[in-house]
Amino acid sequence: KPHAVIFDLDGVIVDTAKHHFQAWKQLADELGFNFTEEDNERLKGVSRMDSLNILLEIGGLNKSESEKQELAARKNKRYVEAISVMDESEILPGVLRFLQELKEHNIPYALGSASKNAPLILKQIGLYEKFNAIVDGNSISKAKPDPEVFLRGAEELSVTPGNCVVFEDAQSGIEAGKAAGMYVVGVGDSAVLAGADDYIRTMEEMTVSRLEK
Ligand code: BG6
Ligand code: MG
Repeated sequence: KPHAVIFDLDGVIVDTAKHHFQAWKQLADELGFNFTEEDNERLKGVSRMDSLNILLEIGGLNKSESEKQELAARKNKRYVEAISVMDESEILPGVLRFLQELKEHNIPYALGSASKNAPLILKQIGLYEKFNAIVDGNSISKAKPDPEVFLRGAEELSVTPGNCVVFEDAQSGIEAGKAAGMYVVGVGDSAVLAGADDYIRTMEEMTVSRLEK
């Protein structure tokens, strides 16, 4: 039985990829190039600045540090506008049921996200108070695939990493969870996501008894 669970946010608890995509796409339009949904896959789990660097590489553009700050702020302003109107109806299927099950089994759970907007999103969807710990882009110095975010989550829950289960939808996140020495469940297509210990398509497939095996 796991002693604790750590959830990624974007793509696991809530589908924010579409909002990130719209905001990056608008920025690419303004910079004069096309940005596709396929390109957007490369940004999953990647920090805001690293995402901007990938976007600029796709557009074949070079920007100074101060221009990058302005572009990232512009993108984030629009993203925040989009997530500010989110509500609990955007929680992905199976999440609330599984959180309830964890509570019944007295298994604490934390958030381990790259996003600096994680607290706002959790508040919008009504889950902010439910997490025993929140580690997000504001409190970490090394982005996934570095294990920092998950190791901090384990530390804040006072459990050893080997007793934690991580849920991740991004390749960089699966690598981070494995580097932390945790059991990793990939959320998505096992043909696309490599290296996880188990795979589910959505949280609807997950139960505590499945983790006990
Ligand atoms: C991750 C998302 O959770 O957070 C990425 O998967 C995003 O797409 C990253 O770039 C950083 O988010 P934010 O909200 O700090 O710009
Ligand atoms: Mg994610």
